[in-house]
Amino acid sequence: MHALVTGASGGLGQAFCEHLAEQGHDVVLVSRRTDELERTAAGLRERYGVQTVVLGADLSEESVRNDLAADLRARGIQVDVLVNNAGFGTIGDFVEADVDRMNDEVGLNCAAVVHLCRLLLPGMLERGRGSIVNVASTAAFQPIPTMAVYAATKAFVLSFTHALWEETRDTPVRVTAICPGPTDTPFFDSAGDDKVLSRRRTPQQVVASTFKALERRAPSVTDGLLNAVQGQVARHSPVRIAVPVARRVVRPTGRK
Ligand SMILES: NC(=O)c1ccc[n+]([C@@H]2O[C@H](COP(=O)([O-])OP(=O)(O)OC[C@H]3O[C@@H](n4cnc5c(N)ncnc54)[C@H](OP(=O)(O)O)[C@@H]3O)[C@@H](O)[C@H]2O)c1
Repeated sequence: MHALVTGASGGLGQAFCEHLAEQGHDVVLVSRRTDELERTAAGLRERYGVQTVVLGADLSEESVRNDLAADLRARGIQVDVLVNNAGFGTIGDFVEADVDRMNDEVGLNCAAVVHLCRLLLPGMLERGRGSIVNVASTAAFQPIPTMAVYAATKAFVLSFTHALWEETRDTPVRVTAICPGPTDTPFFDSAGDDKVLSRRRTPQQVVASTFKALERRAPSVTDGLLNAVQGQVARHSPVRIAVPVARRVVRPTGRK
């Protein structure tokens, strides 16, 4: 049984790979940095004796995603677990955002998730087994000034996953979204400010929450009790309160 993890070179992706390999899955590792993927793959083979396939791909591009699906078909790989984990955020005022990076953020965080589900879910339904995990975020629960695009992409992922959960509810395929809060990975460094939200959970905690949610067929889960409570408060607060609070909480460092 193959599991495909996107963003397998990053903090959460590596933890997903580790868990899936430990469960006996052969793992397909996808992202752009193949050297990092190869290193992770070698560790999985050594520790768990599973097979690994490394596929370098910039998933923000539609043609690359189609090539990836063709590559899987050519290799005879049937993906039974899809973890749509690759994603990144940008921090800063919207009017100053780099347009190309912003478009890649939407392409990767939203379009790639939808496209890979569309490419791989039909096979799971035909075979009568499979799981899809889409990585959203607690950023999905309220708009976040200075992370406006990122938060909106994660709201998209959560909404999309909930709909897909219902569409697959009477099938053997399981679909869930995980909403991690701040987690100890290179994410904030890549976003350009590693000092915001310094209280962080571990990738392993996020992965454990994810697979518990899949087991009980939950449409989504928030990792960590405190994140879950804060998320509920944010979701049910008026916009005029929730959004200014979010702005203060995620204020880029060095700003008043
Ligand atoms: N860390 C947090 O606090 C946190 C909280 C909530 C949600 N999340 C979500 O968790 C997921 C994983 O993030 P992380 O925390 O593990 O951060 P990370 O360590 O920065 O990992 C991001 C991963 O995405 C991959 N990626 C970036 N651009 C890509 C592209 N164009 N094509 C293919 N892969 C690409 C990166 O690989 P390459 O550079 O090799 O391409 C890397 O493997 C993301 O969806 C993020 O939004 C993170």
